[in-house]
Amino acid sequence: MKKYHITTFGCQMNFHDSEKMAGILDAEGYQETANPIDADIIIFNTCSIRQKAEQKFFSQLGKIKSLKKKRPSIKIAVAGCIAQHYGSKIFEKAPYVDFVLGTQNLHLLKDFLNKDFYGLAIDENPSLTDTDLPIKRYSPIIAYVNIMYGCNNFCSYCVVPYTRGPEKSRTHTSIINEVKELASRGIKEVILLGQNVNSYRSELNFPQLLVKINEVKGIERIRFITSHPKDLSDELILAIKDLDKVCEHIHLPLQSGSSKILRLMNREYTYYDYLSKIQKLRKEVPDIAITSDIIAGFPQETEEDHLQTIRALKEIEFDGIFSFKFSKREGTVASQMSGQVDEEVKSRRLYEIIEIQNEITERKNKKLEGTYQEILLEGLPKKEIEKFMGRTRTNKICIIPKKDDLKEGDVVKILITKANRHSLLGSIV
Ligand code: 5AD
Ligand code: SF4
Repeated sequence: MKKYHITTFGCQMNFHDSEKMAGILDAEGYQETANPIDADIIIFNTCSIRQKAEQKFFSQLGKIKSLKKKRPSIKIAVAGCIAQHYGSKIFEKAPYVDFVLGTQNLHLLKDFLNKDFYGLAIDENPSLTDTDLPIKRYSPIIAYVNIMYGCNNFCSYCVVPYTRGPEKSRTHTSIINEVKELASRGIKEVILLGQNVNSYRSELNFPQLLVKINEVKGIERIRFITSHPKDLSDELILAIKDLDKVCEHIHLPLQSGSSKILRLMNREYTYYDYLSKIQKLRKEVPDIAITSDIIAGFPQETEEDHLQTIRALKEIEFDGIFSFKFSKREGTVASQMSGQVDEEVKSRRLYEIIEIQNEITERKNKKLEGTYQEILLEGLPKKEIEKFMGRTRTNKICIIPKKDDLKEGDVVKILITKANRHSLLGSIV
């Protein structure tokens, strides 16, 4: 039996695209292997959101060169955002690569398998939303569901509109059919995926889609990523409040606390717009967890702008953030802006952001000690055979002692006995 190995970089969208490529290969009679040395085909599903992700991939790709020399029959494929961005230049950089598969062309993987020549597929695919690919689901409990692809926002720092193309929403019927099928196979939680889920538009808008998914029997939880603050409507806030399966968590990237920087980022909201949306959200859904993304050292960010971000973190008190140093991405507006910030300044600002947020995250988690929470059991935490891992509805990781009558997929009520910065410990009540 032929074997394949996939290395995935980047976001949940990429993770799910890897599930689709694995689905195609399984259907073709291939078997997955954890060890690239055993594989007949090695796929890199790449990310180009920041330079670091790109460097990580190219260094791993370089290591494969000797393997290809030893065993020329092995096929090397590069998929994902770097494939889309570099296209045929990948072959110039690494002539031992066999195919380059763009983000909208995963369905062509099957055609490439039996070819002996180089293959390149990076065209826009207008039927992307109708392409029905077999999917290998790595979790029996939680499933990703694409509701839309691409992005139209062109935030000035971001490559995604270039690597993933313009927004395309799937029809609600095809989404609901997929969710029903997942429920019939025992999936308990669906995570709706899109670069900007709340601009989803078919015959239904995003809150209306949530209403329909909420009706699917067997599904117990609904999550969605990522939301854009400018599209966070009152209707969506009420959907989170009223629909019992929609979890009380939203990932809402702020990016900066300075309205001047937000304008340069082309984010289409001011800090005050953002704050008032958060206040509305918290008024309607008091226990909602809010997480965010922050970029440190965007071009023209002064010390005062940075302090406004620090003040914003203190004022909003996110449950957690992902924070990054601004990274120049080829082809984006921000990469050409004047006033680029020195690397050391970026590092120091990022450090200050992380320090403040760590303290806030820990303090917020501590408040949960002694409270009751509902968790969905996902499996075993790494190396801890005697424990179970699950998430609260607010998306916090929680570890509980294992019990014989519990299994993956159970929703259990627990008492939080101890809170750490990155996880909670609980006991069954
Ligand atoms: N530099 C740094 N961070 C970036 N992000 C996107 N593009 C860049 C960039 N060029 C961050 C944003 C986004 C998250 C997914 O990645 O914060 O929300
Ligand atoms: Fe990038 Fe902005 Fe689109 Fe998010 S909304 S993918 S940050 S362009």
